[in-house]
Amino acid sequence: MRQILVAGNWKLNGSRKDIVGLIGRILAGAGDTGDTRIAVCPPFVYIPLVSELLSGSKIAYGSQDVSDQESGAFTGEVSGPMLTDFGCSYAIVGHSERRALYAEDDAFTARKFAAARRAGLTPILCVGESLEERDAGITEDVVARQLDAVIDLEGIAALGDAVIAYEPVWAIGTGKTASPQQAQDVHAFIRGKLAGLDKGVADKVQILYGGSVKGSNAAELFAMQDIDGGLIGGASLQADDFLAICRA
Ligand code: 13P
Repeated sequence: MRQILVAGNWKLNGSRKDIVGLIGRILAGAGDTGDTRIAVCPPFVYIPLVSELLSGSKIAYGSQDVSDQESGAFTGEVSGPMLTDFGCSYAIVGHSERRALYAEDDAFTARKFAAARRAGLTPILCVGESLEERDAGITEDVVARQLDAVIDLEGIAALGDAVIAYEPVWAIGTGKTASPQQAQDVHAFIRGKLAGLDKGVADKVQILYGGSVKGSNAAELFAMQDIDGGLIGGASLQADDFLAICRA
């Protein structure tokens, strides 16, 4: 049985005050979330604050991105070792917003994935197609290409201790969630593709769904065989919504 993981991607949101309140409410309400593993991914600058607020709790935290470099003359970057220095467990890599808005391609994403692993972080590798790609019937080709970049660089075994997040771009922040069956179909494709290379890795890897997950639709998504939790954007900024997803 794979554990369910619900991870909040706060994106470019929050202030010191908001975060103290949000974490306080999550901690107060997280008592009945069972075996679900919960994680939050704040903006870099708030990681020390989140680390302090979550100390002694079971809630994990991570970053929304990570440099492909370890140290040196790379202005503006934050490295994997810096993130583990502050207790991060996870690093999101290849989010569609990074890919689309900051021109991060598959090869660059794969190097970030590798850098996260080198530092001992669990990468959360985001994959997913745009609406045009879905309409063109190439969803599986796109997802396969995104996965292959990582497999080519790091080998299939590297995915065994990673997390994959399937996030169809058309479902992100749009309120338009993939149906449980649409999501399951892609999750099954991903797991099947990995199984063709290494069955053990395919059985083990957690595959999260992301894209307009809410308290009201999480249970039916998470009930699907190959969906092992969610990567949550907007709803992770509201403690009640986020906790409802964790309970689902
Ligand atoms: P929303 O939940 O706001 O659609 O965002 C999903 C996402 O991008 C998580 O990484």
